[in-house]
Amino acid sequence: MLCQAFHFALMEVESCHPVFTPLYHTASFIGCWVGPRQPITNHSPLLLQVGMATGWGSLLQDEQQLEELARQAVDRALAEGVLLRTLQEPSSSDVVSYAPFTLFPSLVPSALLEQAYAVQMDFNMLVDAVSQNAAFLEQTLSSTIKRDNFTARLFNIYKQVLKEGIAQTVFLGLNRSDYMFQRNADGSPVLKQIEINTISASFGGLASRTPAVHRHVLNVLSKTKEAAKILSNNPSKGLAQGITKAWELYGSANALVLLIAQEKERNIFDQRAIENELLAKNIHVIRRRFEDVFEKGSLDQDRRLFMDGQEVAVVYFRDGYMPSQYSVQNWEARLLLERSCAIKCPDIATQLAGTKKVQQELSRMGVLEMLLPGQPETVARLRATFAGLYSLDMGEEGDQAITEALAAPSQFVLKPQREGGGNNLYGEEMVQALEHLKDSEERASYILMEKIEPEPFGNCLLRPGSPVRVVQCISELGIFGVYVRQGKTLVMNKHVGHLLRTKAIEHADGGVAAGVAVLDNPYPV
Ligand SMILES: Nc1ncnc2c1ncn2[C@@H]1O[C@H](COP(=O)(O)OP(=O)(O)OP(=O)(O)O)[C@@H](O)[C@H]1O
Ligand SMILES: [Mg+2]
Repeated sequence: MLCQAFHFALMEVESCHPVFTPLYHTASFIGCWVGPRQPITNHSPLLLQVGMATGWGSLLQDEQQLEELARQAVDRALAEGVLLRTLQEPSSSDVVSYAPFTLFPSLVPSALLEQAYAVQMDFNMLVDAVSQNAAFLEQTLSSTIKRDNFTARLFNIYKQVLKEGIAQTVFLGLNRSDYMFQRNADGSPVLKQIEINTISASFGGLASRTPAVHRHVLNVLSKTKEAAKILSNNPSKGLAQGITKAWELYGSANALVLLIAQEKERNIFDQRAIENELLAKNIHVIRRRFEDVFEKGSLDQDRRLFMDGQEVAVVYFRDGYMPSQYSVQNWEARLLLERSCAIKCPDIATQLAGTKKVQQELSRMGVLEMLLPGQPETVARLRATFAGLYSLDMGEEGDQAITEALAAPSQFVLKPQREGGGNNLYGEEMVQALEHLKDSEERASYILMEKIEPEPFGNCLLRPGSPVRVVQCISELGIFGVYVRQGKTLVMNKHVGHLLRTKAIEHADGGVAAGVAVLDNPYPV
C-alpha cells in the first residue's frame, strides 16, 4: 500500500522503504482516540485491541511513580542526545539541556499514520510541480504580494532569477507535511493537513533519538511488548540521503554543502545530526550566516558559488523563512545564492510554493487536476487530507468567508503568510482582526482555515524546570519528504520518517521551537 504512490510514469524513483511494515500487521483502524477524558468501559472494543490504553490511564494517576519515571526519562533523553541549547546561551554548547518531550508516547491510529506516509510522495510531486509553474505562482500570489512585504520580496528575487535564467539544474526538496487528527461527527479521527513546510523543516535529527526514550519508559514499567511497538525513525538519515544525491549530481568532488545558519541556534543538535550523516560520506558541511555570504560569497562567470574560496554544491537553509531574519545585506546574500547554480534547498520558487496562500489555492476545485494532469488517484489522495481553506481576496468569496468566520469564530483560524509559529489568530483575536481588515485590501495577505479539533488525551509534558503533571493534550504528526529532480526527471521521491509533536490544549499555536509543543512518538493502535 505504501508503495502505491510510486506508480508515476514520468520518473525513475528510488526504491520504496517500507519504514513501518509493522503497521500493516496491527489491528485496522479502530475509530477513536483513547485518553483519560474518555473513560473506557469493559465493553469497549478499544480495550480489547489496545490493552495498554487503560494501563496508561491508571499510570497517569500515580504522582509519585510519574515523578520517578520522569527522572528516568530525562536522564535517558540526555544520554540519547535529545538536546537543545539553553535560552540563556543560545550560541554556545557549554551548557545544554534536554529538548522538551512527553513522558509517554501518544496513541495514533495506524491507518492515519499509513495514510500520511502514503500521501507524502504525492505532496513531494505537488510541491515540485508548483515550484515549476511560474504562471500559477504569479497568479496565486498576485494579490498577496501587493499587501505582504515579505512575500513580495521573496517574489521579487524569484522574478529576477527567472528573468536572468535559472542557473540551477538539479533541485532538492526536503519538506515536512504536518497533520492533525480531526474528530468527525461520529467521533472517528480523520487526517487533515495543517500545512507543508518547504524551508527549514526541523526536528528530523532529534526525532530519531526519542524512540529510545519512550521504549525506556515502557521498559521501566515492564511493558516490553508495548515498548517494542514504538516505531524506529531516522528522518535525518533520509534528509542527508537527499542532500547526498543532490551533491553527487552537482558533480564536483571538492564542493561543499553550505548550511545557512542563525547566529543564535538552540536547535543545533538537530542540525548536527544531518551534518554528521554527510560527513560519514565524506561530504563536508560549512555553517555560515547570511552576513558571511554577503561579505565573502561570490559567483564566477558560470555562476558557480564560492564561499571563502571554496565551491559550494548545495545550500541548505536553516534560516531565511521569517522577515526578522533579513537585513538589507541578508536580502542581497539571498539573491546571490539564488542566482548561483548551487542547489538551493529550497530554491526561492519552492519556498514560495510553501506559502499559506498557495496552500489555500491548491484546495480550489480543478487546481490539483491542472497541476498534476492525468493522475486522478494522486489528486484524490491529496485532496482527502485537505481541510477547509478560504481566500480573503477582495470580492464576494472573501466577503462570505469573513461572514462565516465572524458567525462561528471557534471554527476558524486566520493565517498570515508567515512561518515559525505564533502568527496565527484564533477566537476573539481573530474576530478583532477580521473586523479591522474586512474592508481593507490588506485582508488579501491572510487566508482563513477551518480549525481542526482533535480529541484531547492526557500526558505529561516534560520541560526543564517544570513540575511533572498530567495535562490534556493534542498531537500533530509530521512526515518528512525528500525529492531530487534533475532537469525534468525526478530521480528521488520518498518519505523518510516522522515527527510527532504534542502540546497542551490551551495553546492554539506554536511548535517545539516556539516553546509550546514537545517531542513525542506515535504509539500505533
Ligand atoms: N487549521 C488549524 N487547526 C488547528 N490548529 C492549527 C491549524 N493551523 C495551525 N494550527 C496550529 O498552529 C500551529 C502553527 O500553524 P502553522 O503550521 O500553520 O504555522 P507556522 O507559523 O507555519 O508554523 P511552523 O513553524 O510549525 O511551520 C500548528 O502547529 C498547529 O498547532
Ligand atoms: Mg510552517
